[in-house]
Parts: sequence; structure tokens; C-alpha cells
Amino acid sequence: MVILKSLQEIEKIREACLIVADALTGLREMVRPGVNTQGLDEFAEKFIRAAGGIPAFKGYRGYPKTLCTSLNEQVVHGIPSRDVVLKEGDIISLDLGVIVDGFYGDAAVTLPVGTISPEAERLSRVTEEALSRGIAAARVGNRLYDISYAIQATAEANGFSVVRDFVGHGIGRSLHEDPQLPNFGEPGRGPRLKAGTVLAIEPMVNRGGSATVVKEDNWTAVTADGSLSAHFEHTVAVMPDGPWVLTKR
Ligand code: MF3
Ligand code: CO
Repeated sequence: MVILKSLQEIEKIREACLIVADALTGLREMVRPGVNTQGLDEFAEKFIRAAGGIPAFKGYRGYPKTLCTSLNEQVVHGIPSRDVVLKEGDIISLDLGVIVDGFYGDAAVTLPVGTISPEAERLSRVTEEALSRGIAAARVGNRLYDISYAIQATAEANGFSVVRDFVGHGIGRSLHEDPQLPNFGEPGRGPRLKAGTVLAIEPMVNRGGSATVVKEDNWTAVTADGSLSAHFEHTVAVMPDGPWVLTKR
């Protein structure tokens, strides 16, 4: 059941989302060759707590860290570690969730480490574009899979594939609420979008095939074919005057 949010509730979600946005802005400055991903995680946790929030992922189904750090062929849920050191040419996806007064915000970005290949650049750009197109489809009166279709069409028109094993989601008093939001689907299908629906829209796009595998740590999802993967996410409220991107300051 999709839980519609009041303006007051959306304002609370917005508070959590702004901490996510500002933490990601700080992390963007830190990403460069030689940095280890544990350092990024520690910055994220300190930043969130100093801002009055609680890390949403830490302890969620046993996830051990505040931040997800997914490099290159890693799709999502890479676990920060002192042993993972960023190097020139990598791409890194940072995914972060925050709780404020019981309300959740969730966003992700993919960032270049130094100078990256033209293909890595194009993959990141197209994935961010897929997110923008998905957000643009998050309008009252549209249907849920209009968002899915906009994402899929953008990725596939550029020769990439969307991940099918992980989905976007409703968000509010829980990190994951109904509805599930696949990154593929048929336009004109799915439930009608109502004002007050809050969604985490999160395209995961692969340079190669869509299949993924979860590693022995039971978290890190990688592309089955070892191809590069990018991930962008915003928490978005469907409002009468159009989508509100809550994780953008
Ligand atoms: N953005 C991801 C999601 O919404 C991050 C979850 S990581 C977890 O599912 F550790 F919390 F599971
Ligand atoms: Co999410």
C-alpha cells in the first residue's frame, strides 16, 4: 500500500534529505586517488550526526556501515574498507541514507576519481540523465511505470542496460516502502501517481549486460560480466505542481 505524505511529513523527509545532499557534497570534495573508502564512511557518519541525523543504512538488515561505496563493476552496496583505495580512472558510486525524527532520505551519485575513460564518463552522464528523465515523469496523473520506462529508454537508447535485480522504492517512515519502482517497464502501466507519493528513484545502469551477482560478503553486488556500472538516486515527492527533488539543495 502506498502511504501518501502530508506537507508536514514531506518537510521532515526534506530535513533528512538535505543532510544527505550536504554530506554527498562534502564527500565529492574528498574523492581523489589515494583515499580509502573507510575514510569516506567516517566522514559521512560524523557529518550526519553533527547535523542531528542518524545514518539510515548502518544496522539495516545488518549492513555494517553508514555509506555504500561501489567501485567500477560494483553496482550497489559496496562496503567501505581501509583496504579499498581509490585510484585514478575509477568511478565510485556513493549511496547514503539519513533519518531525522523518524523520517528517511536516500540519495546516490557516481563520481570520477581523477581522469576517467570516455566510456566511464558517458555511462555516468547517461545514468544521471536517466534519473532526470525518470524524475520528470514523476507527475500527478502519470503512472508509476512511466518513470520506469523513461529510465530504461534513456539507458537503452545509449546502448547500456538497466539493472533488474534492484529497484527504487517508496520512502518515508521506513527506508523501503511500497511501491517498488523497477528501472524498466511499460509506459502507461502501473498505479496512477498521486500527490504526496514520495519515491527514491534510483537507476543502476551497466555498460554491458543487466545481470548482477552478489559477492561472498553477502552485500556487494557486481555486474555478472564485469562491465562498469553507475548509480544515481534522488528522493522525490510527487506534488501538484510537479516533482520536488528533496535530496537537491
Ligand atoms: N539506496 C539503497 C536502497 O535504497 C541503499 C540501501 S543500503 C542498505 O536500498 F545497507 F541499507 F541496505
Ligand atoms: Co534507495
